[in-house]
Amino acid sequence: MQEKLILIVEDSTQIRMIITKALQAEGYATRQGRNGLDGLEQLKQAQPDLILSDINMPQMDGLEFFKAVRKNPRWVAIPFVFLTSHGTSEDIQRGRELGVEDYLTKPIEPEDLVNIINARLYRSTAVEVAQVGQAYLDTVKVLANAIEGRDKYTRGHVDRVTTYSLWMAKALKWSSQHIRMLEFGARLHDVGKIVIPGSVLNKPEPLTDQEWELMKKHTLAGAKMLQEIPHLRGTLPYVLYHHEKWDGTGYPKGLKGKDIPIQGRILALADVYDALTTARPYHEAKSHQEVIEIIAQDTGKHFDPQLVPVFVKIMNAMRAQAKK
Ligand SMILES: [Fe+2]
Repeated sequence: MQEKLILIVEDSTQIRMIITKALQAEGYATRQGRNGLDGLEQLKQAQPDLILSDINMPQMDGLEFFKAVRKNPRWVAIPFVFLTSHGTSEDIQRGRELGVEDYLTKPIEPEDLVNIINARLYRSTAVEVAQVGQAYLDTVKVLANAIEGRDKYTRGHVDRVTTYSLWMAKALKWSSQHIRMLEFGARLHDVGKIVIPGSVLNKPEPLTDQEWELMKKHTLAGAKMLQEIPHLRGTLPYVLYHHEKWDGTGYPKGLKGKDIPIQGRILALADVYDALTTARPYHEAKSHQEVIEIIAQDTGKHFDPQLVPVFVKIMNAMRAQAKK
């Protein structure tokens, strides 16, 4: 792991050195400033992961320094911890008004200081990870909705397919990491339809052979788009293989049995179940029971014989629950 950098702003050389030594012993890189102005100079040279600053300092005190730091968009998210010598409530009150959350009161044992810094950095990393994760999901949803918006027959399809697939993954006791990727994969499974002309996508009559060939390209087109995004590479098996069939008659590769990645086999069930239970240009919506029978008949042909019973069980259970 890359060394984390802590900026220590403190006018007492002695305290600065004690803190520096304690943090360096813990594996942190440090920079030092003697007052707020000096701190700003240090910030321009290297962006720290956390700032630890005294309040009472000559030239520019800690509160002024804090204000200057927060004014700069580049520095606005850096965790900031105040070090107050006597914990004067007036300073703390002023700091609170400015939005400072963290205070340490001097004198402080180096060990306590290190523990608090570790915890503060861990917290800010955890928040960042959660925010990035949410941002990815939001982006994926926007993208999936954009595709769905072009296809008037499949409104709500992505949400339902995602829900059914998530039920399956939970029934199969997948890890949270795999479940997270499944959510992305299910939402993006038809993203390649972006290359299909609207006239084909929304054609009310049955497609010609040529149009079908074009439609089938959405799996490869989607995979090609997503493989450029490292974080979303785990979605490729969903996007690529959701139209493969157990007996090898699917597309794009014509894979057979367990050569089809499980992601594709699960999504195939969720995708077909939803397509048949909702009205499309070529068919009315079928009932849950009818679709379960169709899926049962297609076991070993279209669908994985081991996954079908799990799917039927979970869909029956969820349906029974919804009726209550
Ligand atoms: Fe598809």
